[in-house]
Amino acid sequence: MKQKLKDLERDAIKKITETANVDQLKEVKVRILGKKGELTSLLRSLGTVPPEERPLIGKEANDLRIILEKAITEREQVLDELQKENRWNKERIDVSLPGSPPMVGQKHPLTLVTEEIKEIFVGLGYRVVHGPEVETDYYNYEALNFPPDHPARDMQDSFYVAPKIVLRTHTSPVQVRVMEKQAPELPVRIIAPGKVFRRDDDATHSPMFHQVEGLAVDKDISFADLKGTLLLFAREMFGADQKIRLRPSYFPFTEPSAEVDISCIMCSGKGCRVCSYTGWLEILGSGMVHPRVLEVSGYNPREVTGFAFGMGIDRIAMLKYGIGDLRALFSNDLRFLKQFA
Ligand code: PHE
Repeated sequence: MKQKLKDLERDAIKKITETANVDQLKEVKVRILGKKGELTSLLRSLGTVPPEERPLIGKEANDLRIILEKAITEREQVLDELQKENRWNKERIDVSLPGSPPMVGQKHPLTLVTEEIKEIFVGLGYRVVHGPEVETDYYNYEALNFPPDHPARDMQDSFYVAPKIVLRTHTSPVQVRVMEKQAPELPVRIIAPGKVFRRDDDATHSPMFHQVEGLAVDKDISFADLKGTLLLFAREMFGADQKIRLRPSYFPFTEPSAEVDISCIMCSGKGCRVCSYTGWLEILGSGMVHPRVLEVSGYNPREVTGFAFGMGIDRIAMLKYGIGDLRALFSNDLRFLKQFA
């Protein structure tokens, strides 16, 4: 019996130390010390031992139980530590690794340019207003003195969404909408940035592009006011030594009309590829508000005068940032957009 106890001890200790995790240890514990366990069944056979040896064997068996319980508790602690260490190794982070910075958005170049233009005119006392992108024939053409079936309508080949309803081909209809609402109150001083649409699509023309309309109406507004305002704008926008040049032009809603060039911002007027060796870049159309436009909008052309201009924002952005292909502004390529951060 004594030998059996010794064998059991050796065997049990071996099993305990060989366990790889807490679950295995629990199983081993049941197998040795449980109700039907090895030690328990050994004690049941105590009846076969001669009576005089029973107390001694009993004591030894009890001692063995205590030894094994202790061994199990110790093993449990060891396994616990191992498990913790394992988890730590698995979850360990390398604090020297470079972080992955979150993607941060930034303003689109057109937004940047529009904001800059707005700021300049707000500084001159202009109000920023917006008009609808889907416009009636009346505001887009008729009120702006385009006669029905007049070839001038072809200047801006339009998208019709219904009979007499167009995607606005320019921001000039906002002139009429604003004056109509405000008349006969003076002065009128607004700029109207926004999207416009024309049947056009190549490297320098997009079917959707952006304009800023400007309008000033008051008593005694002259062509000199127009010129002075545009020169000031050009200097604020492109630099203090900017020059502008006005060329006679035609728009049905202004008379006289002028196209305005700025001295080339790439070569300062010396002549380069960007300005086709002319030294000048065209950036806007302008003129004195036509008396008929004032009239249909509720102002008396014998009492008030005004000037208006419309500039292409996309073109200004392309010049300012040296963008070769207009379509880069609308293709949403992050490699392009990220450069304006
Ligand atoms: N609306 C004209 C265009 O799109 C520009 C313009 C605006 C001309 C205001 C004169 C006055 O070409």
